[in-house]
Formats: sequence, structure tokens, C-alpha cells
Amino acid sequence: MSEIPSARPPVVAGEIAVRGVSKSYGAAQFRKAVVRECSFKIEQGKLTVMIGPSGCGKSTLIRLLAGFEQPTEGSITLDGAPISGPDRDRLVLFQETALFPWMSTWNNILYGPRARGELDRGTLEFAEFLLNKVGLREFRNKYPGQLSGGMQRRAELARAMINNPKVMILDEPFRGLDAMTKELMWEYYSRLYEENRRTNFFVTTDIDEAVFLADRVLVMSNIPTQVRAVIEVDLPRPRRLSDIVESDRANDVKKQALSILHTEAMRSFSRGSKAAADFVDAYLKRAGRA
Ligand SMILES: Nc1ncnc2c1ncn2[C@@H]1O[C@H](COP(=O)(O)OP(=O)(O)OP(=O)(O)O)[C@@H](O)[C@H]1O
Ligand SMILES: [Mg+2]
Repeated sequence: MSEIPSARPPVVAGEIAVRGVSKSYGAAQFRKAVVRECSFKIEQGKLTVMIGPSGCGKSTLIRLLAGFEQPTEGSITLDGAPISGPDRDRLVLFQETALFPWMSTWNNILYGPRARGELDRGTLEFAEFLLNKVGLREFRNKYPGQLSGGMQRRAELARAMINNPKVMILDEPFRGLDAMTKELMWEYYSRLYEENRRTNFFVTTDIDEAVFLADRVLVMSNIPTQVRAVIEVDLPRPRRLSDIVESDRANDVKKQALSILHTEAMRSFSRGSKAAADFVDAYLKRAGRA
């Protein structure tokens, strides 16, 4: 089936500003600081990737951006207006799959518009367009249990995009996929981004994923997390994996981010963190291969 440009609603990209945000849990002596004085922008129409050690507080930040929780201090705004709760203008794809197992791919994709009573012809055409884009046309009547992990994630991308959010927020969406499927997902996802230039915020612990996808990388510290560096990834688009592997600029960005992450891991390693010890191990293996 050919593309239906007229079926695509215009993309309205938003901008999120995080200013002096801290988040702690618990009372008095049990208080645990997870996010500390974070300030950054999720720029309009850009793909911002946040990379940080496992357990540093990334998903906590996402819950704040989504409006599921409020910061202890500081403010978060979308296009200048404070975020006071969840809203369809910010759509979150979580680490875990959120497809309904009792619905077909097609009905999963249509879930949002159907729930809002917006199943008009334009929406159905847009759904058809997205189904093609994520390569699931042959799987429209299959149920999530009949799809591979990669297909499930692609169905979720379509299910999110049909709501046409101002900002897409993705929390390690490709975690747990095998290396080859993951690389395919990067290509699908970056094509979708390049065609729409919606504002995207993508969280990961995978440096190759970060460099391949990002316009800007925010490198985070260990818990309580803070922004340690902002790196602009000025590599041309559309990107191909083979180009990135050979690119000196991509390797520079990678080294810069890894060196910061390594320092962070060493710090928490010395405080006895198992996750940090695992990271230092993985880092040393990677450094040995380079
Ligand atoms: N509601 C809560 N109450 C108390 N502590 C919490 C709460 N939510 C998160 N934390 C703590 O915040 C820390 C960071 O958790 P978070 O899930 O944000 O990390 P993450 O960076 O997303 O990790 P991962 O990469 O493994 O997904 C954890 O140590 C957790 O114990
Ligand atoms: Mg997380």
C-alpha cells in the first residue's frame, strides 16, 4: 500500500524545560534523594537521549516529565506551562510492554483514539499508514503473544504515534531485545523520527544506541542523578549503522560519554554498588576491545 500523506495530521512539536528539579522519597532519616538539582531542555523537534548508569534515577525523571509524580523542588514546563499531571501531549513508552494481550495489533494501535471516541476516517487512514511504517501490515490481526519482541515494540511505537503527542518519551524501549533486533529497531525508530521531527526524549543505558539516535546526549551521574555533560551529536541524517561505526566524530562522542560514565561508576563502585561493579567490568571489556 502506498503512503497517504493527506492522512497524516501535522506534527506539533513541544519543548520541555526542567529547572532545578530534585526528587526525594521517604520522610526524615529514611529520606532518599534520587534526582538532585537537574536542569536541562528537551528541545523542540530534536531527539534528546539521556544516558546514565542503571538505577541512577532515569525512570524517576520520566515519571516527573509524564506528570505521574511531582518534583520535590524545581519546575517542569511544556511550552512554558507547568506540567501538573499526565496528558496525551506527552506520551510515554515504558520499559515493559504495554500492549493489551487480548487485542490484535490493529486494535492495540487504535486503542487511544477509540477510547476518546475519535475513530474517524482520517484516524483509520493514519493507523494504516503507521502500520505500514512499522512493517506490521501482515500482522494486523495477530495478538501480542504471536509477535516477536521487536514487533511488539514496533506496534507500541505506532500505538503511541497515533495520538500525535507533542513530546514522545521513551524509557529504554529496546532493553532486553537481542543485538540484531535492537539495531533494526534503531533504524525503524530513527526513520520515524526523521520523517516527523517530533520532540523525542529517549532514555537508555546503551552508549551505541545513544550515539546512533541522538541529536544531543545528556550524560547523567549516579544516584542522586544530575546532568554531567550535554554532548551535541552533529552527525548527518539519515544515519546508517555502517557510517556510524566508521565515524571519528561518533567515536569521539562515545569516548567522551563513556569516560564520564566510567568516573561515575568508579565513584559508586567505591561505595559498594553492584550495578556500578557490573558497569566497570563491562567498560573494561569494551576498552580492551577498542
Ligand atoms: N517510589 C519510590 N520510593 C523510594 N525509592 C524509589 C522510588 N522510586 C524510585 N526509587 C529509587 O530510585 C532509584 C532509581 O530508580 P529508577 O527506576 O529511577 O532508576 P533507573 O535509572 O531508571 O534504573 P534502570 O536503568 O535500572 O531502569 C532506585 O534506587 C529506587 O530505589
Ligand atoms: Mg529505568
